[in-house]
Amino acid sequence: AGNWKMNLDHLQATHLVQKLDWSLRDGKHDHGAVEVAVLPPFTDIRSVQTLIDGDRLPLKYGAQDLSVHDSGAYTGEISGAFLAKLGCTYVAVGHSERREYHNETDAVVNAKIKAAYTHGLTPIFCCGEGLEIRQAGEQVAHVLGQIEAGLDGLPAEQAASIVIAYEPIWAIGTGRTATPQQANDICGGVVRQTVRELYGEAVADATRILYGGSANDKNIRELMEQPDIDGALIGGAALKVESYGEMVRVT
Ligand code: PGA
Repeated sequence: AGNWKMNLDHLQATHLVQKLDWSLRDGKHDHGAVEVAVLPPFTDIRSVQTLIDGDRLPLKYGAQDLSVHDSGAYTGEISGAFLAKLGCTYVAVGHSERREYHNETDAVVNAKIKAAYTHGLTPIFCCGEGLEIRQAGEQVAHVLGQIEAGLDGLPAEQAASIVIAYEPIWAIGTGRTATPQQANDICGGVVRQTVRELYGEAVADATRILYGGSANDKNIRELMEQPDIDGALIGGAALKVESYGEMVRVT
């Protein structure tokens, strides 16, 4: 999934999605084997929908956030109901930039995950520790706490369909990727293991776990070779069709 963050207006969005489709067609990409999604800014979604529906492109799309509320006096907020109406499949929840700049707590993230399911959207639930936590060696407890809080009260079928993205904050946009081993240790040893403890083996097998944080066309292969990494959440590199297309092919 490509997380565009606050980049590309709706015209640029249409161009990128069109080029991405061409590039994947060129490489004969099997969308049944590896799903490709884009998460553009809200204002781009309608245009992206029109293109994807109109040309029947085999791409998925979604939003980067949603409100905990369904509707009402919440100026500036976007309801999951609106995203569902736009045909979104996914919505990112609890990205570290939302947690940091918008003070989203674990409780808010949990409420947003539930709001996503209320409207038939699949959350891409983001977790990950900051540099200080990693340096103190407390990443396991930190991520474990985020996963338990985020999944609190979620029924098993939702836990099986959720996508969880492990994104160490020190690796996001910094060019400093987690080593494949570091990434897999958390994706498997903490994220999948916590899901397993909460819901059992079958659910843990079904949950899709992504790695995010300076993933690019150079390091993606090694990351994707890890047994507990099912895909990637890609920021900067998703804005360049060549890199993103290559990453999809390798995945
Ligand atoms: P990055 O961002 O790939 O630019 O590090 C990833 C993300 O924040 O989802």
